[in-house]
Amino acid sequence: MKKIDIRDYLTANFIGRSIEYHETITSTNIRAKEIAREADEGTVVIAEEQTMGKGRLGRNWTSPKGKGLWFSIVLKPKVKVEEATKITLIGAAAVYKALKDMGIESYIKWPNDIVIDGKKVCGILTEMIFRDKGSYFVIIGIGINVNLDEEDFNEDLKNKATSLKLVRRSEVDRNKLFAYVLNNFEILYIPFKEKGDIREAIEISRERSILIGKEVRIIGGNREKTARVLDIDNEGQLIVKYRDGKTEALFSGEVSIRGMEGYMDNC
Ligand code: BTN
Repeated sequence: MKKIDIRDYLTANFIGRSIEYHETITSTNIRAKEIAREADEGTVVIAEEQTMGKGRLGRNWTSPKGKGLWFSIVLKPKVKVEEATKITLIGAAAVYKALKDMGIESYIKWPNDIVIDGKKVCGILTEMIFRDKGSYFVIIGIGINVNLDEEDFNEDLKNKATSLKLVRRSEVDRNKLFAYVLNNFEILYIPFKEKGDIREAIEISRERSILIGKEVRIIGGNREKTARVLDIDNEGQLIVKYRDGKTEALFSGEVSIRGMEGYMDNC
């Protein structure tokens, strides 16, 4: 297992210029929260292995040693806190672009999954830390299944998740991919940080959406509804139409979108 070293590929000016590296950690998001106050914006915490990797909606995130990219970025945007949740879309667009730079095509499953061959290869967990006087920090945690093998996925995950190695049938350079994500993230993040401008990330999420035009199940608050996905609007909300004809704009917060039978069966 080669240690992470991205000096040859990193072009970003502040994202990834300071990196805290761990062989093993509970969760890079937890650690990033601990250091956020003192850390410069763009500081990254990365680990070879997470023993308590966190997924969205309280789920676990499988993070075997040396096989993935498990990292979190500390961000200190100046925009209103309601806007900051959109940073997930910047992360998704950055991962999509980084994979493209590596010659790998992927899709975005709003708001936080990257999908190849109908299976998840990357998940994003955005968390906020609130400070006094309404100020806050953002931690964006990105998990990419890079070189995981079949046996790294449990029975449940096998149907929903895959790795870049499994789809490409060869190992992928983690250093290059990691740097490409950070480089692309910075390019998309600067206009947002400065002016709240997230147009490019939304454009990419829309163009590469695996959901638009599909019939999906929307799960949230102990309820499940069926709807057709119409669009992603300029605010980054998912526009859906229910069977009774009503439309709704969904905010990424607490909903989970599924294919009609499985994770993304009908793609
Ligand atoms: C999801 O799809 O449910 C989100 C998964 C996010 C996983 C990453 S791995 C790095 C960072 N640290 C964590 O504990 N979680 C995120």
